[in-house]
Amino acid sequence: MTILFEPHRREAQHFAVLLGSDVHTATSGEDLLRLLAEYPADQSVILGPGVDLSVALAMAAECRVTRPALGIVLIRERVDVGLLGVALRSGIREVVPANDPAALLAACARSLEVSRQLGPAAGHGSRRFGSSAMDAKVITVFAAKGGCGKTTLATNIAVALAAGGAHRVGLIDLDLAFGDVAIMLQLVPERTIVDAVGQHLDETLLRSILTPYTSGVDTVLAPPGPAEAERVTRGLVADVLEFARGMFEYVVIDTPPQFTDHVLTALDLSHVHVLLTTPDIPALKNLRITLDTFDLLDLPKEQRFIVLNRSDAKVGLTATDIERVIRAPISAYVPSSRDVPVSINRGVPIMLDNPHHPVSTSIREFALGWLTTPTPPRTPVRGLRRMLKRGR
Ligand SMILES: Nc1ncnc2c1ncn2[C@@H]1O[C@H](COP(=O)(O)OP(=O)(O)OP(=O)(O)O)[C@@H](O)[C@H]1O
Ligand SMILES: [Mg+2]
Repeated sequence: MTILFEPHRREAQHFAVLLGSDVHTATSGEDLLRLLAEYPADQSVILGPGVDLSVALAMAAECRVTRPALGIVLIRERVDVGLLGVALRSGIREVVPANDPAALLAACARSLEVSRQLGPAAGHGSRRFGSSAMDAKVITVFAAKGGCGKTTLATNIAVALAAGGAHRVGLIDLDLAFGDVAIMLQLVPERTIVDAVGQHLDETLLRSILTPYTSGVDTVLAPPGPAEAERVTRGLVADVLEFARGMFEYVVIDTPPQFTDHVLTALDLSHVHVLLTTPDIPALKNLRITLDTFDLLDLPKEQRFIVLNRSDAKVGLTATDIERVIRAPISAYVPSSRDVPVSINRGVPIMLDNPHHPVSTSIREFALGWLTTPTPPRTPVRGLRRMLKRGR
């Protein structure tokens, strides 16, 4: 069943007819609250064009915590990128134009499908933060060469794994000095990891430094500049990751292009290492050195996945050539497209902007195919621990 909220009766009637028979209609806030309480199993709320945007955003922000399975679809007279950004950040699943009934029906069907995947228990808030049943799979995205596409991949993997709110994903920017997650997602870093420096970290403190993004994705942002970044200790990073594991189903970590102590800590605490390269000799050489370093550090081979970004670049190297150079198999091929920087400049990951784009499809197939398998036990990484103990 679906709840439709539209204060103008004629509009309410119009959309109720369009949505079919399984609709409870509310024309006031009180009606809406009553219906939500009366029908806790309802999985979809449609907010009509007459609902004030601030009310819609506040409601979505509240529901993402109290009823995460509830999908909110917002109807607006005009839809633009700015509106999409704020709506998705507040937890609204879909925004559709008022004059496009087909888009509305398709959005409702998609939203119900996501809610269905969450199962009935989720409708009662069982996936709230702090339900210590969570034991996140921790995924670090790394490349020793800058500009390979780490942040692009990490942000899009996070959105893909969240599947519109079906799963809780924590995206952590460990590129502490020059982090780009905030800018790529158009987030204002009001609270960052630095706000936890010198304090006893617990779940409440970690929750207070999260910046929510879209449905299912919350971020821990890097500080605004390198000076603040220096205050973040390796111990704080370890604590953030340990607490995040209890709060999310997936933790995705973006990294700088160096083996910093923070990166080594993340690699040590991760279940999966996603190593990125592009099809050019410097990037491939750096990946080969990275793989050798991983071997030296005893980081298990079975936890590694290699992603070839810009895989279709015509540079005279075939996939076989590349696998021969790096002496390891490639798990995913992400094509090159000018739509990627365009989406970055708009501050919306291509996965949200255009879910059917070949770049989105390849990243989603990789994320859902390789990263959602059951969390393997984490084996202590002896070589890496020795290195960290020496305080390199
Ligand atoms: N598949 C792709 N097609 C086209 N452009 C891409 C693709 N992947 C990444 N880019 C572009 O490459 C640039 C670098 O990407 P990104 O910032 O994700 O790399 P990075 O590895 O995080 O860089 P840094 O090491 O500086 O943190 C961006 O401008 C992005 O738009
Ligand atoms: Mg980056």
